[in-house]
Amino acid sequence: MNYFEYKDDQLYAEDVSIADLARRFGTPFYAYSARTLKRHFRVFDEAFAGTDHLVCFAMKALSNLSILKLFASMGSGFDIVSVGELMRCLRVGADPAKIVFSGVGKTDEEIAAALEAGILMINAESRPELDRINQVAGRMKRRAPVSLRVNPDLDPGTHPHISTGHRDSKFGVPLSQVHEYYAAARGLPNLELVGLSTHIGSQITDTMPFNEVAEKVRAIVSELRANGIALKYLDLGGGLGIPYQEEPPPPAEYAKVLLKPIRDLGLRIITEPGRVIVGNAGVFVTRVVYVKETDVKRFIVVDGAMNDLIRPVLYEAYHEIRLVDRRSVGKRVVADVVGPVCESGDFLAREREMPEPKAGDLLAVMSAGAYGFVMSSNYNSRPRVPELLIDDADVHVIRERENFEDIIRGEKIVELKAR
Ligand code: LLP
Repeated sequence: MNYFEYKDDQLYAEDVSIADLARRFGTPFYAYSARTLKRHFRVFDEAFAGTDHLVCFAMKALSNLSILKLFASMGSGFDIVSVGELMRCLRVGADPAKIVFSGVGKTDEEIAAALEAGILMINAESRPELDRINQVAGRMKRRAPVSLRVNPDLDPGTHPHISTGHRDSKFGVPLSQVHEYYAAARGLPNLELVGLSTHIGSQITDTMPFNEVAEKVRAIVSELRANGIALKYLDLGGGLGIPYQEEPPPPAEYAKVLLKPIRDLGLRIITEPGRVIVGNAGVFVTRVVYVKETDVKRFIVVDGAMNDLIRPVLYEAYHEIRLVDRRSVGKRVVADVVGPVCESGDFLAREREMPEPKAGDLLAVMSAGAYGFVMSSNYNSRPRVPELLIDDADVHVIRERENFEDIIRGEKIVELKAR
């Protein structure tokens, strides 16, 4: 459920008309609904009520400072994957004791920054990483709280680029070596073994994989206990999908399936949801520049492009596209919605049946809150677009549109001899 709805055939974000935003700020832009963000966080958090738990929002999905600040104020923790994300958390005053650090390639500097900040735990993914954390912590005269990320070797049935729990993926420690790694980690003096973590993939729309991973994790935790290794935290990652087209289970059902095998372990349950919290809380708004017809195809050329929203070409992702003003609905057509970037991969939708817009009309690309703006770039020297946060009737510009100087910041013109 979200708060992007039509009123008198005009698309609104909460109490603000999208057309009005386009008039005020130009296009393209991202708009987020604060009411939706809050609702989604609350619904997810409440799904785990009655269990000792911590929701660590996977901020890679959407990392604008205002949005992090909002979630921090609601009690959220954060899943980070870089020192840059750590700094974002610290900038908004997030509680370091609610931060977990994931990722296969943490550098010494990143490990040190995380220990310095006093985060909850580092989710280590390999034997050399355990050694490295031990060394860095030793130099800092600290004990590093670590968990081991387990690769449960299962197929979550999602796009290969966002599937992480299979044995041949780069993530986590193989199931067969988990005990060996814990034993080794126990021998490292500057580590405190506090948890076990896992994350099987993203945009998962079925509860089965979550059940499977919870069962596998339960078995490992029990075996570790038998070997005298008592953990405090069980981090089950993120991955719950949203309805782009499919119908994923609601958070309550997801939580039920996930918790069933592990509830009685008595561990604090950590989750790292990203997409499910923010995906449907954002739209990408773009204006039609031309409608171009060839003898074989119809193209709706818009001012937004793959550099603004890369998901369609990268993951063959489906995003619903709505006309902002439904009064101007023409005949239904099948068209490719494409941007101005010089690549055939520059499309927001392909072979899409939709009401035909005309030049100047506004389109809203729905469910663009997660992995939308954060994956945008300056490709083709296009400025990154503004992010607007709508809160009832209030409009906050939480990131300004870039200008040309922003694009070339840091570049130098060196004078070279032509020959
Ligand atoms: N935890 C870890 C360790 C992760 O790697 C991820 C996502 C999450 C949590 C959050 O997963 P979520 O709840 O959002 O599914 N750019 C892709 C998605 C990449 C996901 C990467 N890891 C997309 O646009 O679909």
